[in-house]
Amino acid sequence: MTINCELVILILALTPYGQVHTEKIIGGRNVAPHHRPYMVYLKNQLAEEEIPYCGGFILSEDFVMTAAHCQAQSLSVFLGSHKIGENDVGIPVEKAFPHENFSEVDYSNDLMLLKLSSKVTFGTNVGPIQLASVEDNNDDGSLPSPCSVSGWGIKSWHGEHTSRILMEANVTLIENELCPEEISYCSGGKTGPAQGDSGGPLVCKDEKAFGVVAAGKETEPGHIISKYAKISAYRSWINTVMNITGKP
Ligand SMILES: *[C@@H]1O[C@H](CO)[C@@H](O)[C@H](O)[C@H]1NC(C)=O
Ligand SMILES: *[C@@H]1O[C@H](CO)[C@@H](O)[C@H](O)[C@H]1NC(C)=O
Repeated sequence: MTINCELVILILALTPYGQVHTEKIIGGRNVAPHHRPYMVYLKNQLAEEEIPYCGGFILSEDFVMTAAHCQAQSLSVFLGSHKIGENDVGIPVEKAFPHENFSEVDYSNDLMLLKLSSKVTFGTNVGPIQLASVEDNNDDGSLPSPCSVSGWGIKSWHGEHTSRILMEANVTLIENELCPEEISYCSGGKTGPAQGDSGGPLVCKDEKAFGVVAAGKETEPGHIISKYAKISAYRSWINTVMNITGKP
């Protein structure tokens, strides 16, 4: 048996026949409604099939973070949703800021900031998540835990159905050569993000966002490795983009 070593991005793609080609959070459970008010999903308004294809999370009244590979021509961000299509509000993106060193080879630097065209009103269903900084990393160099991921992506690596309800799963961070520790995290095990979950947050201690879901692969049946951009390594880039463009 040969193992496919290629990482695949966890974007939701459609087949030429318009069927959903892929799946969501693997080994997950439903999120209690509005337990994760920072979660958003993205739609490409110019796509023929208007399906949510990536996740993301709210940083401020007018900025959302997602993965660079979720870049699309005409993006809208949907907030305050538990079940897709119910009470969700779409806000067009005014400008997208993908990281300039995003690599389509190994999916490093896979982050993107989205400036919204209007300000979000925070409430029970909609609110920001704090980002992890360098100081949030463990002093002894151990990986953060516990951690979880959430999204509306597919339920099994080879599945065909996306979830209309937001799902979450606990994940265990591991060391792996696919994820250089300076700029990324890896998780490994039976649970993890899948297609449609790209751009969502890796949430660890103190409910802070430590990573952004980028890519993954199934190393053996039922075992997946997932790759995340390490947010603490990008704080100055994030601050620069948000400060320059966030001011009126
Ligand atoms: C991108 O990479 C170049 C070359 O390594 C570096 O000079 C630049 O600072 C990087 N950009 C960002 C935003 O980190
Ligand atoms: C997930 O992790 C949280 C925090 O450690 C724990 O309370 C919860 O029981 C875990 N859930 C599952 C399904 O393992």
